[in-house]
Amino acid sequence: MNYRFLLFGVAFFSLILFQACENQSSKKENTFDEKAMLEKGKQVAAKTFATLSGALQKAIKEGGIPNAIQYCKLNALSIKDSLSKAENATIRRTSLKIRNPEDTPTKSELKILNQYQQLEKEGKDIKPIVRQLESGNIIFYAPIRVNEFCLQCHGKIGETLTEENHQIIQNKYPTDQAIGYNMSDLRGIWSIEFQ
Ligand code: HEC
Repeated sequence: MNYRFLLFGVAFFSLILFQACENQSSKKENTFDEKAMLEKGKQVAAKTFATLSGALQKAIKEGGIPNAIQYCKLNALSIKDSLSKAENATIRRTSLKIRNPEDTPTKSELKILNQYQQLEKEGKDIKPIVRQLESGNIIFYAPIRVNEFCLQCHGKIGETLTEENHQIIQNKYPTDQAIGYNMSDLRGIWSIEFQ
């Protein structure tokens, strides 16, 4: 009888201790609402994607791919800048193979790009994530994948990307590495830092 009571006591005490530890560790890790920030990140990424691809499609309609490449060169960064201001965030897209040198990954972005690449290699699911930076700001990362539309400017030369269009890209971005992709490949990441 006594023995059973003791056993029950130990189990009960362990449960309380476990819960206390769990509370403490979750308090330490999350000083922000992770779920809400994930949602916010997804919304800003979707809005930026819609704005950029809307502008791109309009430029293609008006003057084909050459016009759209010129349009991107002139406007992609300024579109991201004005959306960044509106959202009180810094919106970036980056990759392990970049086209515009201004999109070169930072140290922390490179870490995420490599992690995503590894998961991709292992055939695992790649999910958006949020992290807290040392500054206290929250940063959102999410994968960017290639669809058929993208291949016209990021595909394989002589296949999905014509020689002529590749030449135009080379002229505007002499250090371009962002070609050779196939459908659904991981092209890079969104990196959105909220102030
Ligand atoms: C009309 C050609 C064109 C199409 C179509 C296109 N892109 Fe790009 N992409 C560019 C150019 C040009 C840049 C460089 C923009 C700049 O100067 O800021 C770029 C830059 C990027 C970047 C930023 C990183 C870097 O390499 O500088 C990502 C990510 C990207 N493209 C993904 C995509 C995806 C995903 C699609 C399809 C949904 C797509 N692109 C469709 C021409 C294109």
